[in-house]
Amino acid sequence: MNNIFDNSLEPYYTTDYGTAYLGDALELIKQLPDASINLIMTSPPFALTTKKAYGNADSGKYIEWFKPFAHEFWRVLKEDGSLVIHLGGSWDKGRPTRSLYHFELLLDLCRNSHEARFYLAQDFYWFNYAKLPLPAEWVTVQRIRAKDAVDPIWWLSKSPFPKADNRQVLNPYSEKTDKLLKLKQGQRGPSGHNSSLKFKRKLDGAIPPNLLYIANSESNSQYLCSCRKVGMRPHPARYPVELPKFFIEFLTDQDGIVLDPFGGSNATGEAAEKTKRQWICFELREEYLKGSKYRFRLPEESKDN
Ligand SMILES: C[S@@+](CC[C@H](N)C(=O)[O-])C[C@H]1O[C@@H](n2cnc3c(N)ncnc32)[C@H](O)[C@@H]1O
Repeated sequence: MNNIFDNSLEPYYTTDYGTAYLGDALELIKQLPDASINLIMTSPPFALTTKKAYGNADSGKYIEWFKPFAHEFWRVLKEDGSLVIHLGGSWDKGRPTRSLYHFELLLDLCRNSHEARFYLAQDFYWFNYAKLPLPAEWVTVQRIRAKDAVDPIWWLSKSPFPKADNRQVLNPYSEKTDKLLKLKQGQRGPSGHNSSLKFKRKLDGAIPPNLLYIANSESNSQYLCSCRKVGMRPHPARYPVELPKFFIEFLTDQDGIVLDPFGGSNATGEAAEKTKRQWICFELREEYLKGSKYRFRLPEESKDN
């Protein structure tokens, strides 16, 4: 459990590495000291701030809504820290065209005239192949659009050189590459390929691309099984733990502190706990935070169940 708050805010629960707080992130974050956080890893409630779908007018409101958070994120991040924002794309209401709100947010965060001006360290894309073919009208009824299966993830930073190390997130080599790497210097592979090529430099795995293949299809996780057991509805907009885990390992060391201001079911906290990083989670709705506890302990181990 971390202890970086200046005052004695009441935690909702704590674990070996983290603390979850119930409340409005905009209020809670003000209690955090300047430059105290290594990574903000989050998925903001993009569809919940305005009731209607995000057309141009609404996206303007979204950016206004986000601004005070952006200021606080900037303030609490360390100079070499990162802000990673997962935002599902959205469709315009009533027509088969895409909303631009997530691009507008990106431009605002990186080009605005106020103090909190971030760099786009890199754009990532999450290929979520388990996504449903929505909006049904355009995809499965009229068949005039493809299935939307990619979510953008903006990796933003306060400086052009945020802390990062891709050796911490290497992928296993494909069988073919592995065979090539095992060939002795100067030997030829099956295609007559010379194994002493430049790329042969032995690493412990392949450098990951910025397209992340992660299925959002957990069905037997401790979180889901526990929610079922106590008759609680799981959070409807979770990301898989593998997603924050990738960025946590890529962008922080073991002494890093990770904040998720829009914690939901606290998948970020679970990823940080697994990778032995300290974490802080804020969440506005108690039902979500209550369920999120089951990521760390079984219902029978919780006092309230
Ligand atoms: C997209 S969900 C996050 C889901 C999370 N990544 C997960 O995997 O479970 C966004 C969350 O932000 C919460 N939220 C919205 N406004 C908030 C605020 N002002 N302060 C704290 N949490 C807020 C919502 O209740 C919702 O649970």
